Amino acid sequence: MSKFFYLETFGCQMNVVDSEQIVDLLERVGYAQVETPEAADLILLNTCSVRDKAERKVYGHLGRFKPLKDRRPELIIGVGGCVAQQDGEKLLEKLRYVDLVFGTHNIHRLPEMLAGVEQEGRRRLETEFLDADTRRGLFPERAAKEAVTRFVTVMQGCDNFCSYCIVPHVRGREISRAGGEILAEIRDLAARGVKEVTLLGQNVNSYGLRETGEMSFAQLLHAVHEIEGIERIRFTTSHPKDLSDELIECFGSLPKLARHLHLPVQCGADAVLAAMNRGYTRAQYLDKVARLKQVCPDIRLTSDIIVGFPGETDEDFGETLALVEAVRYADIYSFLYSPRRGTAAAQWEETLDPKDKQARFDALLAAQQRISGEIWQSDVGRVLPVLVEGTSRQGGAQLFGRTTWNRIVNFAGPADRVGQVVPVRITTSLKNSQVGELEMEETRAAS
Ligand code: SAH
Ligand code: SF4
Ligand code: F3S
Repeated sequence: MSKFFYLETFGCQMNVVDSEQIVDLLERVGYAQVETPEAADLILLNTCSVRDKAERKVYGHLGRFKPLKDRRPELIIGVGGCVAQQDGEKLLEKLRYVDLVFGTHNIHRLPEMLAGVEQEGRRRLETEFLDADTRRGLFPERAAKEAVTRFVTVMQGCDNFCSYCIVPHVRGREISRAGGEILAEIRDLAARGVKEVTLLGQNVNSYGLRETGEMSFAQLLHAVHEIEGIERIRFTTSHPKDLSDELIECFGSLPKLARHLHLPVQCGADAVLAAMNRGYTRAQYLDKVARLKQVCPDIRLTSDIIVGFPGETDEDFGETLALVEAVRYADIYSFLYSPRRGTAAAQWEETLDPKDKQARFDALLAAQQRISGEIWQSDVGRVLPVLVEGTSRQGGAQLFGRTTWNRIVNFAGPADRVGQVVPVRITTSLKNSQVGELEMEETRAAS
């Protein structure tokens, strides 16, 4: 008889990919996924601790499962991901109804841990970090799945230790996956019909720097570009300090490379950038942006920005606003600074009044909404190539896909276009997506 599991995923794309591996491992040991916790024999949360709000959400969700466990003591509840890595033992002590805690390096151990809980009724905890060689051998074999676009992990971990950030503490040191293995996976994906790959890591552009004899990230992109069947390549996230000239050049020379780059700046003021330990100045960042725009004039950039870092003055914040106006990002993800236990910045006192912090955040949001609105509105009336990813849930011959700038476009069209790059005339620009009309080859020829 099959057993059922329910899995909820929080946080970034690393966790999304890790959750795919969790699903795969569990299916191999006879579990099937269900959509509601009530129907499950096993409930797992894959967690994020990047900001306080994310962490609190995890504890809130776990609380919801306690009544289920009270009613059905045989229910197994497990926690993985970054909160599990950070809180480990404490989590097991605090939440008596949790049976299983596994860290970010221990996902592959899930089946054995689970068997231990099932057979011996023992609570299990595994959160130790593994050494680089072991981890290099553990990049997951991905399960076959029909899809137009897939993430491919190229590196894990982070060595940058930005002073505010928990990620290096919960993901461990940077390691890159063997280039040959990455290319083999992408060739396999292409053979199964995948058209777009997103190369994934906390810091993809430092790919290969720590492994002797490994190719550079730019060389890896060139090799991926050669793979037949792959139409589009994306990568995320890039650190500005590791954005090499060789990589910037790729945006001029590789037509399959999407003309979008997520290049988090975090702040526009030098004093704050230094305190954040970001490893670049405002001028160096702007210089890289200028060179990107030079090799690829229609590139669109997106960014992450933290508001209210300890010591951020009004002038510093003004510099961030000015930088946002100068770069003209297509979008930003902005965050209120949130102190994280164990990071360097956590010792620094926050002097800013929460009201002022929020006011800066609102001002940044307003500026960016205006800029984003202008940029996305400028697409209206243009015919853009859209990679069709699927049929929309609403049905009714509605398709959706993305432009090179990673914007979702909804439009009417036949389902056999899924997986193709088709010309779409953009008719409306909404807050988070666009609406368009499929340009028929015939109508274009006639007009
Ligand atoms: N590796 C990526 C993503 C890191 S986490 C990168 O380097 O860009 C995603 C974003 O969360 C960061 O870019 C940063 O803007 C934000 N962030 C990280 N720690 C934070 C904190 N303590 N408070 C507020 N925002 C934070
Ligand atoms: Fe965090 Fe900085 Fe590493 Fe990004 S580069 S994950 S912000 S420490
Ligand atoms: Fe969150 Fe961990 Fe990602 S802290 S942002 S899930 S690496």
